[in-house]
Amino acid sequence: MCGIVGYIGKQPVKRILLEGLKRLEYRGYDSAGLTVYAQEGFQLAKTVGRVANLTKAAAKSTFPGTLGISHTRWATHGGVTDANAHPHISSDGKIALVHNGVIENYADMKRFLTTKGYTFSSETDTEALCNLIAYHYAKETEGTPDRTRFFTAVRKSLLHVEGTYGIAVLCADCPDEMVGARKGSPLILGVGTGEYLLASDVAAIVTHTSNVVYLKDDEVVHLTREGFQVMTTAEYGVEAKIDQVTWTVEDAELGDFAHYMLKEIFDQPASLENAMRGRFSDDGSTAKFGGLNLTPHELRQVDRIVFTACGTAWHACLVAEYLIEKFARIPVEVEYASEFRYRNAPLDKNTLVFVVSQSGETIDTLAALREAQRKGYRCLAITNVVGSTIARESDGGIYQHAGPEIGVASTKAFTSQILIAAMLALYLGRMRDLSYADGVEIVKALKEAPGHVKKIVAQAEHIRSIAAKYAQHADFLFLGRQAMFPIALEGALKLKEISYIHAEGYPAAEMKHGPIALISEQCPSVFFASSGEILQKVVSNIQEVKARRGKVILIHTEDCALPDGLADDTIVIPAAHDAALPVLATVPVQLLSYYIALERGCDVDKPRNLAKSVTVE
Ligand code: G6P
Repeated sequence: MCGIVGYIGKQPVKRILLEGLKRLEYRGYDSAGLTVYAQEGFQLAKTVGRVANLTKAAAKSTFPGTLGISHTRWATHGGVTDANAHPHISSDGKIALVHNGVIENYADMKRFLTTKGYTFSSETDTEALCNLIAYHYAKETEGTPDRTRFFTAVRKSLLHVEGTYGIAVLCADCPDEMVGARKGSPLILGVGTGEYLLASDVAAIVTHTSNVVYLKDDEVVHLTREGFQVMTTAEYGVEAKIDQVTWTVEDAELGDFAHYMLKEIFDQPASLENAMRGRFSDDGSTAKFGGLNLTPHELRQVDRIVFTACGTAWHACLVAEYLIEKFARIPVEVEYASEFRYRNAPLDKNTLVFVVSQSGETIDTLAALREAQRKGYRCLAITNVVGSTIARESDGGIYQHAGPEIGVASTKAFTSQILIAAMLALYLGRMRDLSYADGVEIVKALKEAPGHVKKIVAQAEHIRSIAAKYAQHADFLFLGRQAMFPIALEGALKLKEISYIHAEGYPAAEMKHGPIALISEQCPSVFFASSGEILQKVVSNIQEVKARRGKVILIHTEDCALPDGLADDTIVIPAAHDAALPVLATVPVQLLSYYIALERGCDVDKPRNLAKSVTVE
């Protein structure tokens, strides 16, 4: 939610900033801006709309500098206007600032600063912080100025902030300095040779260096072309640890695909392989995880698991509930992180908490993690982004290794989460009553999943033709039973997010208790069916829809015996074990949503109003 890129080095900065912003555009795309340090003052370009608009606007001047900051915005305070776009410049012209987060006490700051003669030209909370830094900087320079006065002014200002921030700051008097800081919003330092970057995500850094420092909350970094220094806002020196990023530039490139979402759907055979690599026991009957930081003995004591997350990751938790209860017989509860953090949910001492987050930065999920830890619970995380805040703050966890997910609608991260959920269910199950033979069968099924997904994505053209038939409908139902119910929810969410069609997911049988009133020729239903004891029940539910002239798209496994002409359109997926089935059933609805959105002319990778990483409450 908002992306920041800052650069200090020897190269012309404009291109670096614009390229970095393009890679972070998934974080927000209401408006964009950049500032480059020049001898005559800050050179500024900002515009409403996409980074492409900014590129055009910035083409009008040369921007010759080698020090600059930039921003792509997801609006919180103040409408989408050029004035509200970042960077903001203090009214005395001394400080330029880009910010990701929310300054909660900005109104108090503004009142105070107005009495000191500072003026405001936007409706943003950020401009208050910008002027506050200018105020402290002016105070610092009144005494005996030293080389760190700009850095000191930023640190002092941040002590007054209530809220969250990832910031990059420039000072008009300091041609060789940039300052960054974070609290609650991500900020990563890229360490090159004679050049440094600040960015909200490694995607904007990997083209320059794979050496990064994941800044922690309350840390402030002072950068020059010669080096950097990290301190806390409370003035303690910090020994910064340089990590290596494993993502490559190619991982974040579009390649031959029209959209990141499509690329990431097609990435799934590989992302699923990566989630499993090295994670099965030698005897092939169970999974193993290196980072849980719990002994088998401790894990056997767990008698309840609470999963918490937001959005698509919350749907992954529902799949985990089904699989863990089925294979490990441990009671599981699933909570929306935004609710969990504010209610006083009773947890008993043998409860284990799992947070699930692709980005590892979602503020509600992070807050739920902190709240559970405050209560003394052991909290593990399933995250995709190495070094993210949730990954760092949890007591252990499982990395997804799905590679960067850039499309705003989550695809490969979801299937990798539910595959990991199946592996976790297997692991916990094998510690309890799940037999060796059952374990071997599940391992085999999971290992086959990437190959099965390849067969499903090969049906893209068929799914595209179904999408063309249904793209103009205004309402959809997604209906599935048991572990297919969360996939129905996820299918409905995907369609809503990227095509703006109203869609609802329900357990198939629950349809009779309300949603059936929506059924008509105008409201198609997407059903999921697999062979097994409840197949006939699903068939009955489909017939109830057909009897009311509802159109049916049926996604079913190849081993289902079905009456002729049951559905209007069908997508056949390979037969699979229950442990792997949720992964396989997901892929057709991802493709269906993608192609429906394309038919409707929607901007698939940047759906309106959404941001991939929600770092505000
Ligand atoms: C946003 C995104 C969703 C995502 C959710 C949780 O709402 O638009 O696609 O599922 O955040 O994100 P996380 O990074 O925590 O998985």
